[in-house]
Amino acid sequence: MISSAPLQSPLPHRHRTIKDRLFSVPLRFKIMGLAVGLIAMFGVITNIKVHTILNSNMNTILQEESISVARELSSHSKEYILINDLYGLTRLLRSTVENRQEIRYIFVINNDFRVLAHSFVNGFPADLLNQDGFSTLQEQTLPLITTEGVVWDSLSPLSDGSGAVRVGVSETLRKQQITTFLRSLVLHTMGGILIALVLSVLLTYIITSPIKQLLDATQALKQGNYDCIQTQFPQDEVGDLGLAFNDMLRQLQLAELDRQDKEKIRKEFLQRIISSQEQERKRVARELHDQTGQALTSIMVRLKMLGKAGQTELNQEIAALKETLLEEIGAIHHLALELRPSVLDDMGLAPALEHYKDQFQERHHIQTKFIAIGLEDKRADLCVETCIYRIIQESLTNVARHANASHVSVLLEWRNNQLRGIIEDDGDGFDPEKISEERLGLYGMEERARLLGGTLKIDSEPGEGTLISFNLPVKCITECYE
Ligand SMILES: Nc1ncnc2c1ncn2[C@@H]1O[C@H](COP(=O)(O)OP(=O)(O)OP(=O)(O)O)[C@@H](O)[C@H]1O
Ligand SMILES: [Mg+2]
Repeated sequence: MISSAPLQSPLPHRHRTIKDRLFSVPLRFKIMGLAVGLIAMFGVITNIKVHTILNSNMNTILQEESISVARELSSHSKEYILINDLYGLTRLLRSTVENRQEIRYIFVINNDFRVLAHSFVNGFPADLLNQDGFSTLQEQTLPLITTEGVVWDSLSPLSDGSGAVRVGVSETLRKQQITTFLRSLVLHTMGGILIALVLSVLLTYIITSPIKQLLDATQALKQGNYDCIQTQFPQDEVGDLGLAFNDMLRQLQLAELDRQDKEKIRKEFLQRIISSQEQERKRVARELHDQTGQALTSIMVRLKMLGKAGQTELNQEIAALKETLLEEIGAIHHLALELRPSVLDDMGLAPALEHYKDQFQERHHIQTKFIAIGLEDKRADLCVETCIYRIIQESLTNVARHANASHVSVLLEWRNNQLRGIIEDDGDGFDPEKISEERLGLYGMEERARLLGGTLKIDSEPGEGTLISFNLPVKCITECYE
């Protein structure tokens, strides 16, 4: 039996591992986590990588910029020094510094390391000349650690060897630019995460909503609700699953209806069998009371009166009594035959039906033919034999009661593990579609055939006689449907 208790984790809560916890996370969170996690991981890795590359490249770029500006100015400065235009040289240096924000300072020195011109507005800082590493006038670039960060200081000698130009390029501006760039990259990554979150929520809804409907329908199915899922399924694997599920629901619905139908028929049949048994008992009791009881009482009265009768009257009365007794014996015999012929148990179906046919013909004056083929040396299971006997008995009773027939024939044939029977009369016929549900005979015949795994067919039309045919597999069954 399937338990209706809610599904529970096989492990107690405190013993659940991380893997169990991950597996028990709802599907929508798994999809959202996957999308957001991937974007976030990609964003963080990109940011770190870009940060590292930009920082390492920045130093090289600043060094190159510093030395290239120093070289350029060293070639220009020579002319100013030649004509001793130190004022013009100073203007050149200041305008260069003003035009390029990353350049913090420029100054020109002579062979004696004396400052000839500089870009400082508020005076030249003396300690700049005392920096280690710039003791000779050879081209070089060194990092100076200052209060505002690292300054890449390059020295480029004048071509005639009369001095040199020093240029200081600060990394502060570049660092600010890198920070701004990285900040915008982080913002873009967060935007990407947000978009991924929205998209994954949408995607999750699209994926999980049909699954949720399937889940709800499964729960409803457990409560006996076979209604199909009324939704437009997507055209993907989940949609195929939904369609297959709906198909299954329809099949289950049909099977359930069929089961309920059969159950109803079974109950009705049981009730009808019980009521027909009661009616049969009433009929037997009435027949015993009205006919046999009356006849025996009259025989008793007539026997009492025999003492007073003369010889001739005595002989006549004895003859009359004999006749009455014979009639009663015939009636009791008929009653017994209708109830259950012992010849059916003792000798089998064909002799029992042969005997019944004789009785029927004699009683109702209808020409009756009975042909049995293939039953001579065989006995079917007693249940099957009884069923067939009852079907033929009911068919003949109907002929006598309703058909107004002059001829009736019964054919019974055993071939290939099938017993086939045909009962045909030339009577009034009837419309099988218009049979009242109250009637038990034809219905009982069909039910008997069906319960034995066979079929029964009624062919009749008003004015065309009636043909009843049945086909039963000859197999042993344990229950007996009399
Ligand atoms: N061979 C037949 N010829 C003509 N009419 C028939 C024949 N067999 C059945 N019928 C019609 O079919 C009806 C239903 O028959 P059925 O045997 O089911 O019920 P019944 O004989 O009326 O009552 P019971 O339930 O006692 O058998 C009959 O009332 C009769 O009108
Ligand atoms: Mg009947």
